[in-house]
Amino acid sequence: MGAVQVRDGFVELYGTAPEGVWSAPGRVNLIGEHTDYNDGFVMPFALPHTAIAAVSRRTDGVLRLHSADIEGDAGGVVELRLDDLAPEADHNWTAYPAGVVWALREAGHAVTGADVHLSSTVPSGAGLSSSAALEVVVALALNDLFELGLQRWQLARLCQRAENVYVGAPTGIMDQTASACCEEGHALFLDTRDLSQKQIPFDLAAEGMRLLVVDTRVKHAHSDGEYGKRRAGCERGAALLGVDALRDVPYTELDAALERLGDDEEAVRLVRHIVTEDERVEKVVALLEAGETRAIGPVLIAGHASLRDDFRISCPELDLVVDTALASGALGARMTGGGFGGSAIVLAEAADVDTITKAVEEAFASSGYAAPRVFEAVPSAGARRLS
Ligand code: GLA
Repeated sequence: MGAVQVRDGFVELYGTAPEGVWSAPGRVNLIGEHTDYNDGFVMPFALPHTAIAAVSRRTDGVLRLHSADIEGDAGGVVELRLDDLAPEADHNWTAYPAGVVWALREAGHAVTGADVHLSSTVPSGAGLSSSAALEVVVALALNDLFELGLQRWQLARLCQRAENVYVGAPTGIMDQTASACCEEGHALFLDTRDLSQKQIPFDLAAEGMRLLVVDTRVKHAHSDGEYGKRRAGCERGAALLGVDALRDVPYTELDAALERLGDDEEAVRLVRHIVTEDERVEKVVALLEAGETRAIGPVLIAGHASLRDDFRISCPELDLVVDTALASGALGARMTGGGFGGSAIVLAEAADVDTITKAVEEAFASSGYAAPRVFEAVPSAGARRLS
């Protein structure tokens, strides 16, 4: 659904025109997985798929929320009193926008109510940050309307707080920052410790390449325990090594660090993934800046192996995408996002895209898996006001 339909939908629901319309994208992560809650490096870029919100202010302490994407009985306008918003009470889609309002108010910002109508083209449960898109679009709209003067990175932090505390999912800062800060034609090199950023030009088409996203349609859910277990395991690893976060273990000192962990096999695996993954992000940045784009392929492949074997968050469907794509001539491939399902990315020569897509579809069919959704990802704009 486009901006015009969302605007029209608002008028139909609430009887007046919205004060404005905003959009915020989903993302894919090129490299740097599970590093964000270890104060490390990530490199996402924005998808053309966006959440769009038409929003107006209210002054009576009421928040009205509606999504064009929810059908049936659950699909009406949800009316909430701002004073009643409380963490972890809401398990519906409304927790994302309501959580943002809660986080803004908890941080002392004068948000006095709003009417919101939303629609999103970001596939949900596909590891493409549909929830961050919902959070960021609402945060940006309220920041503009209530003239809060918050910067993009501050909005991202508040959205992460909404997700961690209000929704109750222990995620890092990557997705919200990607949605808020990415720029068209670029990947975002982000240091998640201080949120310093560098926009890295990433125009594959100009170099005869493509990046495919393959959504396995295996649904993941972060609030499920595995994500939290990895996070706790990384924190334990940092404590054992006497550092604030695993980011503080230099790649050059990895062997010594692993030696210190001795036969603590779980800590060894988690630490090895995080430290080598941070190194891979820096390598990809260096290669892209040197114009050696094709050379990032092997780094992506190594990243997948590390997530599969050390971090243990892949699944048979994701491995099948990666193995099949590589066997059909892809330059690189890896799972992307939180894992346990969701999507993989495939870097390929433009001329090989059809062969690879067909091979992956056939491999899924002959394994008895549901057909994957394959689309090309072009680095797109971050969150913005549309009207
Ligand atoms: C999810 C989380 C992010 C990040 C990734 C893994 O997308 O929301 O914070 O941890 O998983 O890189």
